[in-house]
Amino acid sequence: MDRVSVKASSSTANLGPGFDVFGLALDAFYDEITLTKIKNGIKIVSSDSIPLNVENNTAGLVAKYMMKKFRTKGGLEIKIKKGVPAGFGMGSSAASAAATAIAFDKLFNLKLDGNALVEYAGMGEKASAGSIHYDNVAASVLGGFVIVRTSPLNVIRINPPKDLVCCVAIPKLDVPAKKTKVSRSVIPKKVDLKDSIINLSNASAIVSGFLLKDSKLIGTSIRDVIVEPARQHMIPGFSKVKKLALDAGAYGVTISGAGPSVIAFTSKSNNVKKISAAMERGFRTAKLECKTVVCKPSMGPKTR
Ligand code: HSE
Repeated sequence: MDRVSVKASSSTANLGPGFDVFGLALDAFYDEITLTKIKNGIKIVSSDSIPLNVENNTAGLVAKYMMKKFRTKGGLEIKIKKGVPAGFGMGSSAASAAATAIAFDKLFNLKLDGNALVEYAGMGEKASAGSIHYDNVAASVLGGFVIVRTSPLNVIRINPPKDLVCCVAIPKLDVPAKKTKVSRSVIPKKVDLKDSIINLSNASAIVSGFLLKDSKLIGTSIRDVIVEPARQHMIPGFSKVKKLALDAGAYGVTISGAGPSVIAFTSKSNNVKKISAAMERGFRTAKLECKTVVCKPSMGPKTR
């Protein structure tokens, strides 16, 4: 086999209280990576406006790392088709990194397990976020809902309830170049025990909701008293967007990953239009336009 294409989905990280631990794959957008064996070197090809040099390219870094690790012979052409908007909290770099790790595994018939694939995909995330966290890559690699345990890395995957629906509002605003790094710098280094208890209880309830296939329990447990309050000032209109979406029937609303997108959870598909419109109205109070996307959990990457 000389060529493999893999499509990996967008994702939302944290789901409120599960900072750096929870991820959910979302079928809103996909990145497609095609790896082709070539004579030597790494050649990145894309018609999207992304860096084409290996050191600044998520997929390039994953491929470079894996080539070294597995001492593969020859070179690789990496063709990248971006579908996930970059810098908006939808796991854009993670989708490319995940698709690259999976394509590499298939191309060289390595038969790596899920944890290893997540670990290699995480190498690409390091470049864009400045630190390794596996929540988005784990979701993009495995699909569904994921819980990330580290040292050693151990990812637990749970199938989401079939009726879970999300509305994502992506505001049209300029995001800083190293957005994730910036939005991680505002998070408190120490937290009150009472706040950690609130987050822990809600995080536990979210996991229970996924196991019990109870979308309402998941949504109503999306309550974060640590990270969301520290970051929300970076998203103009956030509290209004959240309030209006909850008033429109969303079970829970929070920042998607490091933002600035906002995500609402529901199970009532007849409510999604109302929730999307409410989120648009919320951003308009801050004089911001936004694009809303209604999506479902993605079950995992597609290879061809
Ligand atoms: N857990 C990460 C964060 C996700 O919130 O900073 C962003 O990539």
